[in-house]
Amino acid sequence: MTFSRTIFSINCMLLTACFISLCSCSSTDQEMADDSTTYVEDACSVTRYHEICVHSLASFSNTAKRDPSKWARAGVSVTITQAKLVSQYLANLQSRNTTRGRNRVALSDCIELFQDTLDFLHGSLDVLRNFTGQDFNSQMEDVISWLSSALTDEDTCLEGFGGHAGWKMKRNHLLQNEVLNSTYMTSNALALVNKLATSGPQQPLKDP
Ligand SMILES: *[C@@H]1O[C@H](CO)[C@@H](O)[C@H](O)[C@H]1NC(C)=O
Ligand SMILES: *[C@@H]1O[C@H](CO)[C@@H](O)[C@H](O)[C@H]1NC(C)=O
Ligand SMILES: *[C@@H]1O[C@H](CO)[C@@H](O)[C@H](O)[C@H]1NC(C)=O
Repeated sequence: MTFSRTIFSINCMLLTACFISLCSCSSTDQEMADDSTTYVEDACSVTRYHEICVHSLASFSNTAKRDPSKWARAGVSVTITQAKLVSQYLANLQSRNTTRGRNRVALSDCIELFQDTLDFLHGSLDVLRNFTGQDFNSQMEDVISWLSSALTDEDTCLEGFGGHAGWKMKRNHLLQNEVLNSTYMTSNALALVNKLATSGPQQPLKDP
């Protein structure tokens, strides 16, 4: 987009007969691009893993703008995608049936932990999609406690990696990073929900 805009600007400059209306149109595009960067930067300013936040949520900028409830939803939904990816990796590893002993136990523990994580995340998303003004505080409390539990589960799985030599093997390095990513995204989602909780329910009221 930047590239084609640059070309367009150069054409504009070369063709001195560039219409004022066209030029102002192009500068509006520029402003929109700046705005969307600002939106995601603002939203992510409350998170701990800022780079991952911006990277994973940039595409929501133009729909979420300054709406804390949309950012909270987006944060949880990209975390679900990541946690599903981890679940699939874990299931593949288990189906290869090459892990033995304590690692085998750690692997099956992780699989269960990520099942729970996904349940907590889906439950959170359901509430965030459909919260009410009246029950807002208790609903946010639920979501915050579920996301905290999800984070604890992911950390517990990660500890299994550190504890046993087998998990440290190179081929599991990517998996370990994906689990780590999942914890970062969950932490970010938690921060975005905390932001929503302090902002109040005013935005997407479905209640009359
Ligand atoms: C996994 O491997 C073990 C030992 O090689 C074997 O006894 C067992 O039947 C295998 N399980 C599956 C589900 O293939
Ligand atoms: C949304 O919330 C309302 C009020 O709590 C509830 O009656 C309704 O079943 C919910 N809808 C969904 C899709 O969860
Ligand atoms: C972690 O997440 C970031 C942001 O979405 C992504 O760019 C990166 O590839 C991920 N890394 C791993 C190892 O999963």
